[in-house]
Amino acid sequence: TRRVTVRDIAAAKERGEKWPMLTAYDAMTASVFDEAGIPVILVGDSAGNCHLGYDTTVPVTLDEMTLLSAAVVRGTRRSLVVGDLPFGSYQEGPVQALRSATRLVKEAGVQAVKLEGGERSHEQIRLLVESGIPVMAHIGLTPQSVNAMGYRVQGRGEEAAQQLLRDAKAVQDAGAFAVVLELVPAELAAEVTRTLHIPTVGIGAGAQTDAQVLVWTDMLGLTPGRVPKFVKQYADLREVMSGAVRAFAEDVVGGTFPQEEHSVH
Ligand code: KIV
Ligand code: NA
Repeated sequence: TRRVTVRDIAAAKERGEKWPMLTAYDAMTASVFDEAGIPVILVGDSAGNCHLGYDTTVPVTLDEMTLLSAAVVRGTRRSLVVGDLPFGSYQEGPVQALRSATRLVKEAGVQAVKLEGGERSHEQIRLLVESGIPVMAHIGLTPQSVNAMGYRVQGRGEEAAQQLLRDAKAVQDAGAFAVVLELVPAELAAEVTRTLHIPTVGIGAGAQTDAQVLVWTDMLGLTPGRVPKFVKQYADLREVMSGAVRAFAEDVVGGTFPQEEHSVH
């Protein structure tokens, strides 16, 4: 077995093949996805909401992303692992971005990094790519900018659509190997996908993107409360886990666990 590479990803677009991507934040979960054949695993800074208990991705630190990314790399053998650069670790400029990305590559062992922003991040993307670090870009809704933009559909209206197209071309020109399109109208995502030669990875961006990504706790039903409209829930892990945990608690309180078979003498 060898890991999926960014060249495999480029070849998939040439062949017109679609592919799935999932987030993961720990070794055990990542090993399940790796064994199931998910070609690309994203250590998203959605770890802020989904793993670390923050309200947004904004507080997530590079130390945290390094720790989680290293665990995901250790839990995988075949998947290409992409580490998210957290808020504040690349906005100062290309040199800061290179320093941060280098940590994720050297200390955690990720094979690529992701960062948010189109035109505004193209210099960062260019330096990382020139330095030998594959970059996945992320445009449309960019959650690290929640305090400025909120969580709203992006690219609605002619002006916003033109900006999204400029952003997509900017990250491709800067050398990104793929670009996430988050919460943009399906028709616009389809146009971006036709226009670019690098693959688009949609989340809430319709059916025409080259790849689809979901946050794993959303798609497996572990996230508490409401999940966004674009999520398809493939399991109800919250229900499964809470049922099992209640059964364990009852057994302990009632004295029916452990049994003889669970005991040593
Ligand atoms: O952090 C994350 O999970 C992401 C995906 C939603 C693309 O950036
Ligand atoms: Na992210």
